[in-house]
Amino acid sequence: MSAPIASVPLADPSSLFLAYEEEIRTCARLGPLTDLACGRGRHALRAAEWGLPVIGLDRNREFLTELGRQSETGNRALHCLRADLESAPCLPLAPASCGVVLVFRFLFRALAPHIEELLAPGGLLLYETFLRTQNGSSGGPRNPAFRLALGELPSLFPGLETLEYQESSHEGWARLAARKPG
Ligand SMILES: C[S@@+](CC[C@H](N)C(=O)[O-])C[C@H]1O[C@@H](n2cnc3c(N)ncnc32)[C@H](O)[C@@H]1O
Repeated sequence: MSAPIASVPLADPSSLFLAYEEEIRTCARLGPLTDLACGRGRHALRAAEWGLPVIGLDRNREFLTELGRQSETGNRALHCLRADLESAPCLPLAPASCGVVLVFRFLFRALAPHIEELLAPGGLLLYETFLRTQNGSSGGPRNPAFRLALGELPSLFPGLETLEYQESSHEGWARLAARKPG
């Protein structure tokens, strides 16, 4: 018999996610919000609490089990999907089916065209992850291959319109809000 899974307190949602709440709510009318590499669901759960249809995708079975349990408790419209984002074909979701795509603290460059494809016309992408300049003090992968170069993030999405791009070489993060043309 497996041991019960202990609940781990969720980290706070990113300030980028919170700043785009209104836009997220609007775009979720185009299709569900999909949180790629959702982890324990700090964004997926919050979006589901807002009453939005949410898909949380990750390869970690334990995270998804806990996320599913929490969403059932709150009777939220959160669907958990287990998949490996680094294997082809990448996304087990229909093209143009998602109103909002979130990617936080995950980078697999070959996924970028599939993310563009996944968004419905008019859909919103919020992407935030680590820069190579980061000194390692605030976490993130050690392998530089899994960190962005300065200015790289918007260039991964040539088919999207950048709404906002910020990066902090000092703190080691980059943040992008972008829209798929309607
Ligand atoms: C640093 S956590 C970020 C979690 C969440 N996005 C957040 O910001 O709180 C990275 C997540 O990526 C997931 N992950 C890593 N490689 C993956 C892959 N190939 N396919 C799907 N998920 C993956 C891990 O299981 C983990 O949950």
